[in-house]
Amino acid sequence: MMRLTKNHFYITAWALIFNYSCSQSADKKATIATDSLSTVATVPDSAAFKATIAGKQVGLFVLKNKNNVTAAITNYGGRLVSLLVPDNKGKLTDVILGYDSLKSYQKPREPYFGAIIGRYGNRIAKGKFSIDGKAYQLDINDGVNTLHGGFKGFYAQVFDAKQLSTNELELTYVSKDGEGGYPGNLSVKVHYILTDDNALKITYEATTDKPTVLNLTNHAYFNLNGAGSKTITDNQLQINADRFTPVDNTLIPTGKLQPVKGTPFDFTAFKTIGTDIGQTDDQLKNGKGYDHNFVLNKPSLTAAVATVKSPVTGIVMDVYTDEPGLQFYSGNFLTGDKHDGKHGAAYGYRSALCLETQHFPDAPNQPSFASTLLKPGQIYKTTTIYKFSAK
Ligand code: BGC
Repeated sequence: MMRLTKNHFYITAWALIFNYSCSQSADKKATIATDSLSTVATVPDSAAFKATIAGKQVGLFVLKNKNNVTAAITNYGGRLVSLLVPDNKGKLTDVILGYDSLKSYQKPREPYFGAIIGRYGNRIAKGKFSIDGKAYQLDINDGVNTLHGGFKGFYAQVFDAKQLSTNELELTYVSKDGEGGYPGNLSVKVHYILTDDNALKITYEATTDKPTVLNLTNHAYFNLNGAGSKTITDNQLQINADRFTPVDNTLIPTGKLQPVKGTPFDFTAFKTIGTDIGQTDDQLKNGKGYDHNFVLNKPSLTAAVATVKSPVTGIVMDVYTDEPGLQFYSGNFLTGDKHDGKHGAAYGYRSALCLETQHFPDAPNQPSFASTLLKPGQIYKTTTIYKFSAK
């Protein structure tokens, strides 16, 4: 409480100074108003991201478009650290949860904030799968399963970074044969592109020298009310999916594709996220809220597969992808027990949501799911776009 009050004082003082100086050159700064914080939207100080890890340079890379929409990305884990987009009054708002320094991203049990997830987004049952009769054992880092690539998935690896222009960053990484238990030397290339229509486009490419499984995604935690605001349960969500993949109590899909109609999982029309989240429902119980893969009716890079709207800022996010699935995670494991977020924010229970575009969880063990197998000679290619507007 004390801390909040203090922060408030400093934040207000800061805002006053900012307004007074009204610096046009303050590219990184713009006032924002959210439901819980009145603060200044900035990207973190790049000095706090400078380090050498495993002989590689880590830093913070800032992309900007002609509307001053700004994305900050660190090559540690390929993480999207900040994304400043205009609200319905034209004020820039940071919609991404994250930290002010590299150190915080390295702490144990960090919740994959903004990370590129690989080699496999979401869970593989018991960390086991087979290719051509050969069994592989992955790290068990989530109860009895493997999650998001294991103990040192891509979220904890240093990518090589090349800023190609003011609005494009290229990240590359070679994951060695056997890393995390996965076969094959895998070369991965990710591009973050900030377009002038206020979209963040993420493209992924990969090749391997041995058959392997691959399911890359981005684990951005969004709060369109502004990162640091209390909840996303007041946001409206629409997902163009008539079915989802129900899970067991370790969050492994049962293999069924269940219709959403008549269940809390029906987001085919806009619905406030909090409307059904508290219902008595076995699937909500297993996920401790929404933590499920939706089967997209029509993956597309031109028609949105999902849209989120904030009643506070009017910010609207449209999601486009060529992937068959979308993991909607309502931030059920966020605890907010520390004020370690950007600008001292505490990221509490359900204070953000993730919309992770992907193939289905545990596909390597589920013959009825689209295959995630990548063979030598094939090129893995996928694109996801998060596009912002405000009403
Ligand atoms: C998973 C959640 C998990 C979260 C980790 C999501 O992709 O579906 O179950 O807790 O990542 O932050």
